[in-house]
Amino acid sequence: LFQLILSMTFDPLHSTLHFLLEMQLLLVILVFPPQLFESESCTYTYLLADTETKDAVIIDPVLEKLDRDVKLVQELGLNLTVAVNTHCHADHITSTGLMKKRILGLKSAISKFSGASADIQLSEGDKIPFGKHYLVVKETPGHTDGCSTLVLDDELMAFTGDALLIRGCGRTDFQQGSSSKLYDSIHQKIFTLPEQCLIYPAHDYLGQTVSTVGEERKLNPRLTKSKEEFIKIMDNL
Ligand SMILES: *[C@@H]1O[C@H](CO)[C@@H](O)[C@H](O)[C@H]1NC(C)=O
Repeated sequence: LFQLILSMTFDPLHSTLHFLLEMQLLLVILVFPPQLFESESCTYTYLLADTETKDAVIIDPVLEKLDRDVKLVQELGLNLTVAVNTHCHADHITSTGLMKKRILGLKSAISKFSGASADIQLSEGDKIPFGKHYLVVKETPGHTDGCSTLVLDDELMAFTGDALLIRGCGRTDFQQGSSSKLYDSIHQKIFTLPEQCLIYPAHDYLGQTVSTVGEERKLNPRLTKSKEEFIKIMDNL
């Protein structure tokens, strides 16, 4: 598998690869760059695979990149079993429905509170397995009611969707947004993870791809404030 990946022509601007050799884990970060304006954010899709069994899951695939994602899954010979959305996106369209038509046996998954239909309706504590690994669902409402954070089995990584962003957080002024709920979600469900847990968000305005729980607890300009101050900041964006 490694040789196959290394011999592929990757667009380095649009994807980054991480192997966690000991854990037999592959993480591909697929970037959907801003389309029109530089002030728009990058949208990230994450492909996670067990390099031994080749079972894989994809997080937040976008419609515009359906062909790229399906091609990559096929080239890597992965058995993609679940396409999961961290929430119902307002700013882009998921490719989950069309991807299911191209990849046999693929199931879609999203929070049962998202209002969206999917094969698997997720709630707190649910596990999404792939090979010997799994993602655990933590409900982190606030940006929307149906936002989930997906935590890798040993709390090495968390995919925070639009709840916690790098030095920021998702907006709370539309789609059932609630700054009070978002503050509690991040403090209770994400900031309680180990300091070194890697944070992979759904978006970034500067093209940054990764942070840690410790870094955000110390440096996030919004989440280091009191709840009252946080609510005021979010009300006045
Ligand atoms: C893919 O994974 C699913 C779920 O673990 C399993 O049932 C199926 O047999 C696998 N398919 C292949 C081709 O390995």
